[in-house]
Amino acid sequence: MSAGAAGDDGAGGGPGGDGLFPEPFATGRARTVVAPGAVHVPGWLSAERQRELVTVCRGWARGPVPIRHTVLPNGGVMSVQTVCVGWHWQPYRYTRSAGDVNGARVAEFPSWLAELGRAALVDAYGDPAAGAAYAPDTALINFYDGDARMGMHQDKDERSAAPVVSLSIGDSCVFRFGNAEGRGRPYTDVRLASGDLFVFGGESRFAYHGVPKVYPGTAGPGTGMSGGRLNITLRETGLTDPSGT
Ligand code: SIN
Ligand code: FE2
Repeated sequence: MSAGAAGDDGAGGGPGGDGLFPEPFATGRARTVVAPGAVHVPGWLSAERQRELVTVCRGWARGPVPIRHTVLPNGGVMSVQTVCVGWHWQPYRYTRSAGDVNGARVAEFPSWLAELGRAALVDAYGDPAAGAAYAPDTALINFYDGDARMGMHQDKDERSAAPVVSLSIGDSCVFRFGNAEGRGRPYTDVRLASGDLFVFGGESRFAYHGVPKVYPGTAGPGTGMSGGRLNITLRETGLTDPSGT
């Protein structure tokens, strides 16, 4: 158990106080450095924590800004469905309100989620100090059905170079992690399964990445999902109000 200590009420108050996340590498599963600054930690989320996150993401998917397929400037529609917390992402900027959906302000970014992000950095980088300065203020929550995928892209709409923390729940996928120069090779295909953590920061922060394939029916029982893949990425926008309202 590691992130399972993240609190007993994922839907609300979340954890508080000392002694949280006391067990780096507690899962004992292999941690892989995919590229400098890019680390895959399989099985990082306990089953309980996965269920809590599914429950809270379900709530966010309902509103105040409902989950939707993002429309791209070229008129294309993303196959994944996305809902945001803290700041709303639309191509290619962050705002507080979802002008491209229903105009509502997105849900507040909860402090327990920032705490989870800090714990993720500590475990991924194996450094108790790694999370100290990390203050994620947005989460992009993506839902993939069996046919959804995400093309190779950089996460570069943030004004901060702080790491991206990625949590996967549900069906497994191929996560293609490339380089900062372009969409092509070299890249590494990593299979992300339910409960896995992937962090990319440092030299890898602006590496191209994507999800070329989801494997339907691979989630196993106990996530609370009936199918599909949930991915939560935590980021620092580097924005402050009122500039991006
Ligand atoms: C993303 O690149 O924003 C999402 C990646 C993933 O779904 O694993
Ligand atoms: Fe991304």
